Amino acid sequence: MQRTNIIDTPKFIGKTVKLAGWVHIRRDHGKLIFVDLRDRSGIIQTVIIPDHVEAHDNAKRLRNEFVIEMEGIVKERPMSAKNEKSPTGGVELEVTSIEILNEAKTTPFEITKDTKEVDEKLRLKYRYLDLRSERMKNNILTRYKVVKFFRDFLGEQGFIEVETPILGKTTAEGSRDYVVPSRIYKGKFYALPQSPQQYKQLLMVAGIEKYFQIARCFRDEDTRGDRQPEFTQLDMEMSFVEQEDVMNVVEEMLIKLVQTQFPEKRIQEIPFPRLSYKESMEKYGNDKPDIREDKNDPNLLAFCWVVDFPFFEKDEESSTGWTFTHNPFSRPKPEFMEQLMNKENIADILTTQYDIVLNGYEAGGGSIRNHEPKALRKVLEIMGISEENVQRDYGHMLESFKYGAPPHGGIAPGIDRLVMILQNEPNIREVIAFAKTGEAEDPMMEAPSVLDEKQLVEAGIKIVTKKKKIV
Ligand code: AMO
Repeated sequence: MQRTNIIDTPKFIGKTVKLAGWVHIRRDHGKLIFVDLRDRSGIIQTVIIPDHVEAHDNAKRLRNEFVIEMEGIVKERPMSAKNEKSPTGGVELEVTSIEILNEAKTTPFEITKDTKEVDEKLRLKYRYLDLRSERMKNNILTRYKVVKFFRDFLGEQGFIEVETPILGKTTAEGSRDYVVPSRIYKGKFYALPQSPQQYKQLLMVAGIEKYFQIARCFRDEDTRGDRQPEFTQLDMEMSFVEQEDVMNVVEEMLIKLVQTQFPEKRIQEIPFPRLSYKESMEKYGNDKPDIREDKNDPNLLAFCWVVDFPFFEKDEESSTGWTFTHNPFSRPKPEFMEQLMNKENIADILTTQYDIVLNGYEAGGGSIRNHEPKALRKVLEIMGISEENVQRDYGHMLESFKYGAPPHGGIAPGIDRLVMILQNEPNIREVIAFAKTGEAEDPMMEAPSVLDEKQLVEAGIKIVTKKKKIV
């Protein structure tokens, strides 16, 4: 007999079905044994009566989280016994046979309850159990729903998804790289991408025109509630566009996401209000303002755009005293192009950078890029990057731009942050299946871990431990 998903059982009143899943709760009343059976789709109450001798004997052995298969007849519950709150609350299964597929130890924490209060390191160590809990399961399902919506929406708009390398080259993108030793070229390293920024621009040179990717990014920076060492962006890039075009696609996509997938939510203002960086700083003291009218409303989504960011900021470590604020590949706003080329009033130059902000979080950022080699060179010159380093870090980009690079621009909404806000979760770890701790560890796999001697030799790596000072 084919297995029926628990959620579908009410369709089979009077019929025999086979269900499979986990024992959620077992109540032994002596003669009658009740088992709430759980699968991904839902939970159903089942009852085992002594008439079915073998099933009854097996039911006595059951404990929470045993994996079982059951056959039985779907019965409509009497009116007084119906549970309106559960989608399967109108029926119960009268079990005729039980097969125990696997036993289970007592779980280190209760998963029939919300695991929010459980020690987080323990939850991460036993993440596969944590994910069985209702709230965590819903977070993972919702994340899939969001990603699927983006894929479908962008596909319909003529975007294509292209995978870009994970083993790349270290680049000056603003954060610290995770590096991977090369076995073949000892002493050389790949870097994991902080974002696919350069690859997506090269895809524009390649004529892809409309690109997106559910892209994993890696940044070795201090972890916070809204930051993980690895996270996921909806990375996008388009050719022949201006700032407005990119912003419009993203705005339409986010509105449609909420309206079709989260109808219970309300967007505070459409079109999304826009603030300049200056206005935002003056009015809210930061560049990711929380403009919600009512901060207690869990279903209120206050999107806004922050634009007109300064291109450069002071940096003591730079030989010229200047570095970029967001992205060295950005194009200045058209009215500042001349100023950039003449290196005049550098502090006043505004960039085409646009950030999408949601309920006080930076949910995404992007810009129009400098597709002309001479303008990109000028940016690097202002930052005081030596010719040698320009060639080393940006040579391939400058070279590619000599072969007919179209004007282009893009954006990258952060998927973890978006899903976190949509699910009213306090941090992104709650919406990442296998998240890392605040100290960038994975307590389940025990990563990071040491390498054995053979691997170290192969990778050409010698571990240098700091010598303790002898006093
Ligand atoms: P940026 O660095 O602003 O832009 O990143 C874009 C978005 O990614 C999310 N994000 C993070 N989420 C979780 N953990 C992190 N450590 C983390 N860092 C960033 C944020 C952020 O808004 N290549 C450019 C995009 C572009 O210009 O097209 C980029 O990466 O939601």
